[in-house]
Amino acid sequence: MAHHVNTLILGAGAAGLMCAAYAGPDTLVIDHAKAPGEKIRISGGGRCNFTNIYTGPENFLSENKHFAKSALSRYTQWDFLDLVQSHGIPYHEKTLGQQFCDRSAKDIIAMLMAEMGAAKLWLQTGVEEVSHRDGLFHVRLSREGKTTPVTARNLVLATGGKSIPKMGATGLAYRIAEQFGHRITETRPGLVPLTFEGDTKAHFAALSGTSVPARVSCNGTSFDEGMLFTHRGLSGPSILQISSYWREGDTLSLHLLPEIDLYDTLRTRRTQVGAKALTTVLADLLPKKLVQHLGEAWDLGGNLADQSDSALRALCDRLTAWPVTPTSSEGYRTAEVTLGGIATDGISSKTMESQQVAGLYAIGEAVDVTGWLGGYNFQWAWSSGVAAGRAI
Ligand code: FDA
Repeated sequence: MAHHVNTLILGAGAAGLMCAAYAGPDTLVIDHAKAPGEKIRISGGGRCNFTNIYTGPENFLSENKHFAKSALSRYTQWDFLDLVQSHGIPYHEKTLGQQFCDRSAKDIIAMLMAEMGAAKLWLQTGVEEVSHRDGLFHVRLSREGKTTPVTARNLVLATGGKSIPKMGATGLAYRIAEQFGHRITETRPGLVPLTFEGDTKAHFAALSGTSVPARVSCNGTSFDEGMLFTHRGLSGPSILQISSYWREGDTLSLHLLPEIDLYDTLRTRRTQVGAKALTTVLADLLPKKLVQHLGEAWDLGGNLADQSDSALRALCDRLTAWPVTPTSSEGYRTAEVTLGGIATDGISSKTMESQQVAGLYAIGEAVDVTGWLGGYNFQWAWSSGVAAGRAI
């Protein structure tokens, strides 16, 4: 005899748990992991950057840039903050509107588990087969070494993307969506460190561990945040952000010191402290290790007073429009998100229900909606999860 439920949710991550809180008591959530919300647990350095107060549709990438508007406007960052407050969870803003738990990301998982109410959760449960007939989904689950059949009126795909396979990411949602006639857009690692080869790699490796504020631009988009040199290339928030806009072969432009007018600053200092070495003056503005390295690599000798206007202009152009061409990214191994996914043209933006198969829903990262770094991806998981849960 098959178990019967009104709603079966595949994936006990951020989106699946949130959906369960709204889908009613006759809901079963399954996950192959040992614990629910594993990505929530490790997110934000263990403190979970659970939303961003500046969330808006412009913070998301998708083939259809309007798709996320409906769900985001009907369950907003303020709704999620109300929920967090109603559970007495202490939190704080770190920077740029990013909201973090004061104590631990586990507070968010416990909150979601409490919100699920009577909905059931089966962990260490896999999916063998899914079919649909007579208005019901027939799902063969594998649990405790046995096949367990379940039938459900509604099936919610909430198994996320491909990022961090070590943590149990699989392409399951894409496979089931395809089985039911949905198109999958090209998937790529997003919010991921970028890697370099040859001389550039060697230069960056020598600076490994050094961070600097930078405006990083690519394909008409720029982010002003910290940038970190690593053994393999570049990382840090500005690089993770731009990685979602970068494609193999594209060149990034690095603007070190975006907050000041470097040319004006150096010309002023030339009148004040012209007898100082150029590298000494630069080391007041940029990390010493970086200046030392650039001094050798770019042959930055002499005192500031020795530098003509055109020499200063040339140096500033190098430091404010430094072209670098990554070879690749670190891939799904370290990517925080997967770009692309279940195409939005097959899903209702209001309910997240399939336009092909009644009762089939897709939510969270599995869908072709990807947020910037800074709490936007969890907000999408909450908003899309609530949209589906309410519609069910
Ligand atoms: P999610 O990946 O959370 O959940 C999917 C669930 O499905 C998992 O529990 C998985 O085990 C299960 N599953 C997968 N395949 C299965 C299968 N075949 N059978 C059964 N179960 C299966 N975002 C943000 O806004 N703020 C932040 O601070 C961070 N920080 C962060 C750090 C790190 C290291 C990573 C990797 C990611 C982040 N993110 C983030 C991104 C965020 O974690 C992500 O966008 C959401 O968790 C997506 O929620 P979903 O529920 O869609 O997928």
